[in-house]
Amino acid sequence: MARGSLDWIDRELEALGAKGLRRALEPIGSPQGPEVEVGGRRLVNLCSNDYLALAADPRLRRAAAEAAEREGAGSGASRLVAGDLPVHGALERALAAHAGTEAALLFGSGYHANAGVPAALVGRDDAVFSDVLNHASILDGCLLSRAELVRYRHCDVEELADLLARTRARRKLVVTDAIFSMDGDAAPLRELADLCDRHGAMLYVDEAHAEGVLGPRGGGLAEALGVADRVDVHMGTLGKALGAAGAFVAGERRLVELLVTRARTFVFTTAPAPAASAAALAALGIVATEPERRARLAALVARMKAGLTRLGFDVARVAAPIFPVILGDEARAVAASQALRERGFYVRAIRPPTVPRGTSRLRVTLTAGHTDAQVDAFLAALEEVLPGVATG
Ligand SMILES: Cc1ncc(COP(=O)(O)O)c(C=O)c1O
Repeated sequence: MARGSLDWIDRELEALGAKGLRRALEPIGSPQGPEVEVGGRRLVNLCSNDYLALAADPRLRRAAAEAAEREGAGSGASRLVAGDLPVHGALERALAAHAGTEAALLFGSGYHANAGVPAALVGRDDAVFSDVLNHASILDGCLLSRAELVRYRHCDVEELADLLARTRARRKLVVTDAIFSMDGDAAPLRELADLCDRHGAMLYVDEAHAEGVLGPRGGGLAEALGVADRVDVHMGTLGKALGAAGAFVAGERRLVELLVTRARTFVFTTAPAPAASAAALAALGIVATEPERRARLAALVARMKAGLTRLGFDVARVAAPIFPVILGDEARAVAASQALRERGFYVRAIRPPTVPRGTSRLRVTLTAGHTDAQVDAFLAALEEVLPGVATG
């Protein structure tokens, strides 16, 4: 029975629809992979974050099933109450070894980690400096911290230097995506680390799209750039390249000890399900022993980059398997997505508020499971549909 007090929602949804901004769920009828079933059709999947093609790997599935048998389907409580299960500790030890840090702490998701960790590090007398293109979860975490929020222009180290020089905050936290989620470009981590050293600021790096993908050991962008030991807070996710679910913060033991007490999104939530943590643990083993997955992905990224450049897209700054195919207004992005789907490719349109107005796009992603032929066929299909969407 509809309640009158919610009538405003009809008008809100209508207004969103009129602006092309209404979002809708679309069930996927198969496990995650380079091809997925959508609406009864098999499509080449170019929009997952399953970068190492591990989400459906039999080893992860087996580890998840065994953990559910051994430790239960759910953890039943928060870590600090009665939910601290053996698999959580085992995964945290493996994550610390993977990140090369003293300790690591698990979170339910990357969103949880970013929403809760800043507030454990800074508060009212402090300032947090955040790249304008940082992920929404980082922005939310900064706002929740109640520290002064200072947003600097995308990757603009000079502006940040200026802002740091002028602040009178007690503690300073600089936070950045390693790889920006909608553009695929890399943060200037070495320059950011230099600035943090100069100004006594903490450096927080969200490696969500680089974890498992970049670096000789798959440790992320900071590892790739040789600055991992200059990052105070290494945040990584387990639901993207690692094929499972959850996230972690790795760093010094005292940092982790503080988070156990202070990070509200760690304290006040049920511990991750054993199956998810066990799958992530299995994935870490694969990241360590199968570097050829990263190499394969890098080769596919180079192929896509060359192809999109040929079609006139500016992807020179792309450093990861994420390509922004920027089409401008929402209608063009939606039309291109639809036309590609008719040709057998699944690429969702990304619109405001996820990306700035006027930069609606297809966010094209690759996984180690794709083939050269799939990349080439996609590029040919894109070339074919572009004239149609250009004219509206
Ligand atoms: C940069 C970045 N950080 C954090 C997250 C959130 O991670 P999760 O999906 O594990 O909540 C995402 C994407 O989802 C992301 O792109």
